[in-house]
Amino acid sequence: MTTARPIAVLGGTGPEGFGLALRWAQAGETVIIGSRDAERAQAAAEKIKHRASVNVKVSGMENSAACIAADLLVLTVPFDGHATLLKQLKPAIRSSSIVIDATVPLAASVGGRATRTLGVWQGSAAQQTAELVPAGVSVVAAFQNVGAEMLNADGPVDCDVVVCSDDPEASRIVRALATRIPGVRALDGGKLETARILEQITALLIGLNIRHKGHSGIRITGLPASAYQTS
Ligand SMILES: NC(=O)c1ccc[n+]([C@@H]2O[C@H](COP(=O)([O-])OP(=O)(O)OC[C@H]3O[C@@H](n4cnc5c(N)ncnc54)[C@H](OP(=O)(O)O)[C@@H]3O)[C@@H](O)[C@H]2O)c1
Repeated sequence: MTTARPIAVLGGTGPEGFGLALRWAQAGETVIIGSRDAERAQAAAEKIKHRASVNVKVSGMENSAACIAADLLVLTVPFDGHATLLKQLKPAIRSSSIVIDATVPLAASVGGRATRTLGVWQGSAAQQTAELVPAGVSVVAAFQNVGAEMLNADGPVDCDVVVCSDDPEASRIVRALATRIPGVRALDGGKLETARILEQITALLIGLNIRHKGHSGIRITGLPASAYQTS
């Protein structure tokens, strides 16, 4: 069953956002690619239409127009532009929206190593987001540990997605959305403050990818099947 509301992927012209948008469009979701430049967003949407083997519902818009058009927003921008973008978009973000944050505060975003994360005053990029969005918006941390290479490849994505939020209903909606991607299992990781750990795991995965020349992801073992239920 589709999510029944459009999903706007802000920064969806980059590999991570594009991969998520592609997967959701292929699953029948209505997707809007957001960009600082409307033409770049439309070009990315056209690329998804060509890539998908079925008719897909995908369009491209400037980021603030995408926020006005959708209340399920996915943030996939580099950490160095994260806070500035959110401040710009604040007037356009609807108060009942869910903001899914996949941002990782990699030191690489300020010229450091991709295998290290930066300290974020609020605890994590996702917690910084929670401080910057309008009142009434729920922030959900997810997808930090799903690499763009896997999302943009063909075939199932061999990853679990741990979802963290202080809003249990928003967490449930995002877990259901995650499982629209073939191969993905999603589970409730608890409160938003746990996003700090999810973000650091990405730095570990990048180090493993460099060391072993692969595209790593995570699978959680030892939990009952009920942990993966999204209803
Ligand atoms: N790549 C991965 O495998 C992966 C995996 C997990 C999580 N992530 C996280 O997901 C986020 C996106 O990753 P990515 O590799 O797709 O990044 P990216 O290619 O560097 O950036 C994605 C998009 O963000 C927009 N952008 C760039 N700088 C910006 C700024 N200063 N302000 C506002 N928008 C800006 C650009 O879109 P426009 O120019 O069209 O606006 C760009 O195409 C990052 O936080 C990353 O840590 C990435």
